[in-house]
Amino acid sequence: MRIVSGITATLGLAGAVSANLHPRSQETRDFFALHLDETTSPSHIAQVLGARHEGQIGQLEGHHTFSLPREETAQFDTLLNDLRTRRNLRRRDGIDERGTSDDPLDKILWSHKIAPARQRLQKRLPPVSVPYKSLDKRKENAQVVAFQKEAMSSLGITDPIFREQWHLINTVQPGHDLNVTGVWLEGITGKGVATAVVDDGLDMDSDDLKPNYLPEGSWDFNENVPEPRPLLLDDKHGTRCCGEIGAAKNDVCGVGVAYDSKIAGIRILSKPIDDVDEAAAINWAYQKNDIYSCSWGPNDDGATMDAPGILIKRAMTNGVQNGRGGRGSVYVFAAGNGAASGDNCNFDGYTNSIYSITVGAIDREGNHPAYSESCSAQLVVAYSSGSGDYIHTTDVGANKCFSGHGGTSAAGPLAAGSVALALSARPELTWRDLQYLMVETAVPVSEDDGSWQVLPSGRKFSHDWGFGKVDTYTMVQLAKTWDLVKPQAWLHTPWLRVHQDIPQGDRGLLSRYNITADQLKAANIAKLEHVTVTMNVNHTRRGDISVEMHSPAGIISYLSIAREKDEAAAGYEDWTFMSVAHWGESPIGEWSIIVKDTNVNDYSGTFIDWRLNLWGEAIDGAKQKFHPLPDEHDDDHPYEDAPVATTSIAPVPTKTAAPANPDDHHDRPVNAKPSVSNPTAPVADEKKPTSTTGSEAETPSPSSTDSGYISSYLPTFGASKRTQIWIYASLVMIITFFIGLGVYFQLQRVKRRRTTAHDDYEFEMIEDEDEMQPMAGASGRTQRRGGELYNAFAGESDEEMFSDDDDEPYRDGLANIQEKGGEDEASDDGPHREKP
Ligand SMILES: *[C@@H]1O[C@H](CO)[C@@H](O)[C@H](O)[C@H]1NC(C)=O
Ligand SMILES: *[C@@H]1O[C@H](CO)[C@@H](O)[C@H](O)[C@H]1NC(C)=O
Ligand SMILES: *[C@@H]1O[C@H](CO)[C@@H](O)[C@H](O)[C@H]1NC(C)=O
Repeated sequence: MRIVSGITATLGLAGAVSANLHPRSQETRDFFALHLDETTSPSHIAQVLGARHEGQIGQLEGHHTFSLPREETAQFDTLLNDLRTRRNLRRRDGIDERGTSDDPLDKILWSHKIAPARQRLQKRLPPVSVPYKSLDKRKENAQVVAFQKEAMSSLGITDPIFREQWHLINTVQPGHDLNVTGVWLEGITGKGVATAVVDDGLDMDSDDLKPNYLPEGSWDFNENVPEPRPLLLDDKHGTRCCGEIGAAKNDVCGVGVAYDSKIAGIRILSKPIDDVDEAAAINWAYQKNDIYSCSWGPNDDGATMDAPGILIKRAMTNGVQNGRGGRGSVYVFAAGNGAASGDNCNFDGYTNSIYSITVGAIDREGNHPAYSESCSAQLVVAYSSGSGDYIHTTDVGANKCFSGHGGTSAAGPLAAGSVALALSARPELTWRDLQYLMVETAVPVSEDDGSWQVLPSGRKFSHDWGFGKVDTYTMVQLAKTWDLVKPQAWLHTPWLRVHQDIPQGDRGLLSRYNITADQLKAANIAKLEHVTVTMNVNHTRRGDISVEMHSPAGIISYLSIAREKDEAAAGYEDWTFMSVAHWGESPIGEWSIIVKDTNVNDYSGTFIDWRLNLWGEAIDGAKQKFHPLPDEHDDDHPYEDAPVATTSIAPVPTKTAAPANPDDHHDRPVNAKPSVSNPTAPVADEKKPTSTTGSEAETPSPSSTDSGYISSYLPTFGASKRTQIWIYASLVMIITFFIGLGVYFQLQRVKRRRTTAHDDYEFEMIEDEDEMQPMAGASGRTQRRGGELYNAFAGESDEEMFSDDDDEPYRDGLANIQEKGGEDEASDDGPHREKP
């Protein structure tokens, strides 16, 4: 298998290079991607179609680009549509997709028109700049300083800014670092591993990066040349990210996390790029590059909802299946910097892919930086800017360092560096083993902030922190003895038809589906890892919608949150949300999806359908096949009404919720709350059905359940009905109280709000953490009733890092940041502009 993929890689490389020889003249020609049956040659198809064969698409076997003069494309479109219809008919009739027909056009398995190159990806730079305070030696911890000194001398580290690299050894806040030194002392420094930084270039002439630069892993897709040299004035981001991973141990700047590993540059962010090139970039030299570190994504403005195109999705799938000799390329993505704009990483199709390790940020004091996005797809956090400091790394220039790197852009590469060390210790780890290692060894932080759920596996998960912060030492130790996981198995439920209007306000539409042990067995799933939900919701204002998923064990994934800035009249179209919160949980039982439209206004919508997808470890690895490459639409899959029940769920009546005297609550004992150890408790209250709307199949009505008015899907606590009623009544009262408390704080907050622009919003992001303290401390998880409150902590920082103007993220303040090292090039590091 290794050999086979090696050969394909070589062939693929040739294809990609030849594709690159024709610059795509999009003004006069239209471009198409076709997936061909292996029995057909692209030149034959080109001849039949009268099109020009432009080359293979990256490493995607059988995928080729063809072009036609623009005048001829209308006919071509029609032809491709006919072909699609034909394919669908054949598929419906159960005829083998690859057909037995001799018509060469039947050898086209899939076709896709390529949109012109666009600039849709943005670097995840630090969103604001506060002046960097230089290391205060008086605040240093003597013990850690001594440890640092000793480590430097035994490792022979003399790099001039090493002592400022607090993310490696934090002498001021002991413990707030990657905990990597012990790994180096064992001689594990990244040898034999290569990381490609997919970004705006890599300064291969930097004395700090030169020793580890891997030309064979590099390519410039913006200029179509082999060297990814930074060319634009602000092509610095990629170089800084490279420094974090692979800056050499020498007399220049600092060191990378894996300072003896190789670093490659794949340059894609400095010009518009089309999906063909992006697909090629994400698989570039994927037998040489082990890890792809990606500190970019769609705009983090709280309004964008964008996923990689189908070719890029296929390339990522291809990467995990065939990259790294079949062990799988490791994709590391920065979570995104849009938390202050109400953004969430589940609205980004790169970070919410099961194939990527999504990394959020934590700052040097252990705070959640205001920019770092939360979501159910976030796996871990790693250190970055906040609380007055940044990541210190290498910059563009022969001997130039940078003290102002930050944002989730800087967190991702640190996690990538840790992966490089784990791979250096255990090269045979698969892409999923590395996700497991992160899950198993990440360290929960701020455990009393109310964001954590205790999972059935005993681990903790938080939408704000993932499984916690990366602990490199523990991760590498576990990597050494880790039993490799069996191949990935999956289960896709049928499409579950809902087709009901979403009520406005606190009520939501609930749809459920039961997973049985037989289904799991048939799907060959032994152990659950990722869960994804693909769904269609029609709505006239997308930002009003929020979606929760409740697992059989009562673990909640907030798949989407209401986004104030998202005005799109679009809803969710075949969008896939991802959650890692159910990792290791038994998937047997009832899963429910609750779609809400919390804003009572003129915008409304319909929950159309959804499907649940479970991904996990195979029972029998030998018979497990690769998942097919993703398709554009899932239309061919069966539809089902039967197992769906749609129910309107009502919140606790709010009339009784607001305490008459707002001061009342101060006298109440703070521990008057539902047990945090029972994660279903607060949920149960929400699920209490008060009205049932017509559902196609099953209409659970209050009287039809045998547990009185407590619906059968609520936990029974193993108690008698009477006790259950008592428990639930108490819960309702307790929760009502805390909701009242929440409403009170909301009202207080609304009073204090400066802007009146969004008066129709009942809930808004809470900016002042102090106001939330009593709730956070007192109610634990209860505050997280709804998506709107869930986000309350997403962008907190006790430091005023943001100005009021979120739309102008990069201001000139960075000019204050000290430039260290040889040359001086002060001003051009100042403003961090986005690419035009
Ligand atoms: C860090 O690594 C050391 C070994 O160098 C280990 O003993 C320790 O538990 C790890 N964690 C922390 C928080 O220091
Ligand atoms: C799931 O199974 C449980 C227990 O058999 C049953 O009570 C419930 O109604 C089922 N739910 C659905 C959606 O079929
Ligand atoms: C959803 O909206 C689209 C247009 O935006 C419309 O064509 C479609 O019929 C709608 N579907 C439902 C089920 O309302």
